[in-house]
Amino acid sequence: MGDDVILETRGLTKEFKGFAAVSGVDLKVRRGAIHALIGPNGAGKTTCFNLITKFLEPTRGTILFDGRDITRTKPADVAQMGMVRSFQISATFGHLTLLENVRVALQRKLGTSFHFWRSERSLSALHERAEALLADVGLAEYRDLTANELPYGRKRALEIATTLALDPEMLLLDEPTSGMGREDIGRTAALIRRVAKDRTVLMVEHNLSVVADLSDTITVLARGEILAEGPYETVSTDPRVVEAYMGTGAGTGAGTDAAAHADA
Ligand SMILES: Nc1ncnc2c1ncn2[C@@H]1O[C@H](COP(=O)(O)OP(=O)(O)OP(=O)(O)O)[C@@H](O)[C@H]1O
Ligand SMILES: [Mg+2]
Repeated sequence: MGDDVILETRGLTKEFKGFAAVSGVDLKVRRGAIHALIGPNGAGKTTCFNLITKFLEPTRGTILFDGRDITRTKPADVAQMGMVRSFQISATFGHLTLLENVRVALQRKLGTSFHFWRSERSLSALHERAEALLADVGLAEYRDLTANELPYGRKRALEIATTLALDPEMLLLDEPTSGMGREDIGRTAALIRRVAKDRTVLMVEHNLSVVADLSDTITVLARGEILAEGPYETVSTDPRVVEAYMGTGAGTGAGTDAAAHADA
């Protein structure tokens, strides 16, 4: 995995009417890592995530992707560069089947060369690739259901499949297990581990057992600033982290599941 940094923020700051939701955040995400952003309610996780994915403009600071300054780059252009947020370009269509959803995403990736896919042979290649992606995320048996007919816990897997169709180098996930029951959480965690094999994943996640299980590095935010950073064993025993979580009534131990607090 090495020390190669794929994403970096320098002094990242977002103020809302003078209130600093994110303040001077220096984040480094290593290429190939699963990196989690955690912290108590109101810590600035979502704001930070929206800044990184370019859904919000920072008040101050710089964002670098692959060494290139993307602070003022549009989300669609950042996606083109290889950093994609789940549900971004990969919105799913309720009335289309799963197979059609993934095919649409694959065609979108091909963009201007769309006409190439009109031939019989290339259509079947597209079809095969779509089937393979559905199998990758464990949805092969549902391929002919419409997205609307898919059980809630499986929708995330479909969103991940349509995101993977774009073959991003870096995947950003916003609370990938929120609102799920135990079985779906386990399946989604396994899926994230699988798709992270050959890409970088940055996720905001409330469920600390998922975070403990998956993350190489964890950044803990509190009051808009980085409070601690490191592997789970280090940050979960850091007294400052414990104290920050205590104030919100949620524990940090994998047993005291922070997902218990409402985040759906
Ligand atoms: N658009 C906004 N206008 C004003 N204040 C905002 C806005 N968005 C967020 N905030 C404030 O910034 C702080 C950080 O919010 P943010 O949503 O980033 O926290 P979070 O860590 O995602 O919290 P949660 O765990 O509840 O999802 C909070 O105090 C919030 O009230
Ligand atoms: Mg949030």
